[in-house]
Amino acid sequence: MIDINLLKEASKKVLNNSYSPYSGIKVAAAVLTKNGNIYTGVNVENSSYALTSCAEKNAIINSIIHGEKDFLAMAVYTDSHLVKSPCGSCRQFIFEFSKDLQIYFYGPDYYNEFNIKELFPEGFSL
Ligand code: THU
Repeated sequence: MIDINLLKEASKKVLNNSYSPYSGIKVAAAVLTKNGNIYTGVNVENSSYALTSCAEKNAIINSIIHGEKDFLAMAVYTDSHLVKSPCGSCRQFIFEFSKDLQIYFYGPDYYNEFNIKELFPEGFSL
């Protein structure tokens, strides 16, 4: 059984580590792996804006670094009303590893649940 609350809390816990001086928008993500481990990530911005790396991507990279690429679920937590689903680039990044991932998205007074299948239909992969 997947404990979504645990995943949500894991992302919430690292939210303040977000490096987002340009947008002021903090985003954190946590992935649960098949082995039962949780890896987190936050958005990391850059003065050369295009180099910004999203929380979802960084959580996946963190997991890959630890040798785990089989994901059961992802939670995303943000302090912004403006962020309500993963960006296009993150959808592609998630799809690389999971063709059927459930994503739980939390914002201030906002909650939604998606599957990567609906967020990224006809997704590209090799
Ligand atoms: N951001 C994420 O980390 N994840 C998303 O799903 C959408 C956007 C970040 C990128 C940037 O640092 C800030 O939120 C505003 O776009």
